[in-house]
Amino acid sequence: MKFFLDTAVVDEIREGVSYGLVDGVTTNPSLIAKSGRPFREVIEEICQIVDGPISAEVVSTDCEGMLREGRELAQVHKNIVVKVPLIAEGLKATRIFSEEGIHTNVTLCFSATQALLAAKAGATYISPFVGRLDDISHNGLELVQHILDIYDVYEFDTEVIVASIRNPLHVLDAARMGAHIGTMPLGVMKQLMKHPLTDIGLANFLKDWEATQKG
Ligand code: E4P
Repeated sequence: MKFFLDTAVVDEIREGVSYGLVDGVTTNPSLIAKSGRPFREVIEEICQIVDGPISAEVVSTDCEGMLREGRELAQVHKNIVVKVPLIAEGLKATRIFSEEGIHTNVTLCFSATQALLAAKAGATYISPFVGRLDDISHNGLELVQHILDIYDVYEFDTEVIVASIRNPLHVLDAARMGAHIGTMPLGVMKQLMKHPLTDIGLANFLKDWEATQKG
């Protein structure tokens, strides 16, 4: 399973990279706003830090506008993945990007039928938002399983990015299902490392070792 960081804050990305755990990065307009930096500048810097797919989202809602923005973004770096919303115009744009060899991440996916359409349009990645579904009492991970089942039956190449991850259980369940990628905040990535018994065990080992050094 690949791990992407879901942030546009470069200090967080550098920290994740220092653990050797970051295979790519996803951003969205809200995350760019949160970084407090100009879009293009921050995307260019992320591309220098991580050698993997970097999702940058278009903000147009018509196909022509998406194509214009996406083609420009694709010029920034070879690793740029153009993030496109899962609306009719987005599917049209995805098909054209696919024919042009531009990689796409179809985002804001909340149903398996939407995911089926994205794969048919030639999406490189599909991003089902598990946390936002859980927030409204729908099972986000169940959606991921349905998408994986459909993609498996038809042997689609589209990879599933489990997005809107809020906690380690989302990662655990996604990994058990064989989802290709999980994109998560740095905080969740760090939670995955932690276990209280590890900390207690290490403290005891060090205390016992210290005792052997006396006298
Ligand atoms: C990633 O591609 C999504 O934009 C992101 O995971 C959304 O997460 P949120 O629901 O926590 O905003």
